Amino acid sequence: MKITKICCIGAGYVGGPTMAVIAQKCPNIQVTVVDLNEARIAAWNDADVANIPIYEPGLDAIVAEARGRNLFFSTEVEKAIDEAQIIFISVNTPTKTYGKGKGMAADLKYIELCARQIARVAKDNKIVVEKSTLPVRTAEAIKSILDHTGNGVQFQILSNPEFLAEGTAVQDLLHPDRILIGGDSSEEGQKAIQALVGVYSNWVAADKILTTNVWSSELSKLTANAFLAQRISSINAMSELCEKTGADVNEVAKAIGMDSRIGPKFLKASVGFGGSCFQKDILNLVYIAKSYGLNEVADYWEQVIIMNDHQKRRFSNTIVQTLYNTVADKKITFLGWAFKKDTNDTRESAAIYVADDLVNEQAQIAVYDPKVSEKKVLADLDYLETRTSAQNKAYVASFEDPYTACKGAHSIAILTEWDEFKDYDWQKIYDSMQKPAFVFDGRNVLNAAEMRAIGFVYHAIGS
Ligand code: NAD
Ligand code: UGA
Repeated sequence: MKITKICCIGAGYVGGPTMAVIAQKCPNIQVTVVDLNEARIAAWNDADVANIPIYEPGLDAIVAEARGRNLFFSTEVEKAIDEAQIIFISVNTPTKTYGKGKGMAADLKYIELCARQIARVAKDNKIVVEKSTLPVRTAEAIKSILDHTGNGVQFQILSNPEFLAEGTAVQDLLHPDRILIGGDSSEEGQKAIQALVGVYSNWVAADKILTTNVWSSELSKLTANAFLAQRISSINAMSELCEKTGADVNEVAKAIGMDSRIGPKFLKASVGFGGSCFQKDILNLVYIAKSYGLNEVADYWEQVIIMNDHQKRRFSNTIVQTLYNTVADKKITFLGWAFKKDTNDTRESAAIYVADDLVNEQAQIAVYDPKVSEKKVLADLDYLETRTSAQNKAYVASFEDPYTACKGAHSIAILTEWDEFKDYDWQKIYDSMQKPAFVFDGRNVLNAAEMRAIGFVYHAIGS
């Protein structure tokens, strides 16, 4: 089957970058990314590529190259579905906030809406690809909706989870560790798999394209995120023990990482992992395990989240305790609000929870993040519903410049590992602060000896 038209429902952090790279690498395929969010689509179509809605290093250049040639962003969802041979579903699958499974299960309402819309619109055979992260066996539900409400056309459902990480999305998409495609064992299923393999083969080597059954593919995505998050909680657990014993977590991480069976990546102790997916996907995994009665399996994975929550709370507690058990009316400057460097995404960022704890203690929070606006910072806090919007505004303000943000502060807390923080004039910052001047480095990005030589009381994670 020769693929000439692809559509992707969902122009978010996954749909946008993934389709931009497919369009760049497959100039003979027309790629249309659709979304209900008109503002988001307008931003993707902004004449100035600097204004596309997602900040990812290198993405603007790819969009500039392909947009208008074979990459299109549109709100005409039905037209795009009708024309495409392959339809990627890349909509959000957040944790449910209501009803059965509240706080644990993935909310699949957006997925179901897409399936029903595809069923209604499709007039010829389609390959429907799950790009969103989904509970194992979701393809069964999608197939049931498509087959029972469709116009008698044939649908093949593939699972093709995305493994990109934000901040490195473009590199991850251009040079993936693997592409995973799960499909049905029937002849039609195998043909659909090969059609999608054909798309990726335009730039990914054959030995990196792995094909499996649908359930293995769906479950591999949740498993990969659970293992990655588990490593962070494991090293963070050790960071607390290091602080009590005189061991240094960076040295421990290096020592264990040199064991080729363990490997050096994903062993950076931190204020806790954030991001839209780790927590959501593990909670989903826990829910699935419980729904099969596998309580020990569920408890095992839930501990990864419990440890992460503990690490965030421990960080805010350390700040309060070190500042003589009171931060009321003290200015505490947050350097970084995004959940990691090189992204403007703040979803589940540790910064939000640490700020919430400190505002409970009546601290005045000044935020500087190179890519996050004050509007976003306040919206993130409002979302927690701990207090009114007006109260959040009274305690939290954002600054355009790090030196102004730090001026007069009792303490600085580093919440994101932005590279630029290392290059600041720390002497100048020290001179402008209250004394003693405290730094709580939640990312271990600064040089402890240099900071102490300037005069800072410097606290790192895990040493
Ligand atoms: P996102 O919220 O940034 O984007 C989802 C988009 O889908 C939104 O713009 C929303 O308006 C749109 N949408 C929802 N329902 C729609 C509908 N019926 N029709 C048209 N548009 C609709 O989410 P995201 O971060 O791109 O994540 C999408 C999925 O990919 C999730 O399942 C997530 O777990 C998974 N994932 C995310 C990442 C990541 O780095 N963010 C990485 C791998 C996998
Ligand atoms: C993660 C996975 O890495 C991707 O493979 C996956 O596709 C994606 O989730 C998803 O499904 O959404 P992402 O959340 O974008 O990607 O970013 P990561 O680099 O994994 O970082 C997640 C969080 O862990 C960040 O807050 C980061 O600062 C933190 N982290 C990461 C640490 O604290 N220590 C580390 O060693 C690594």
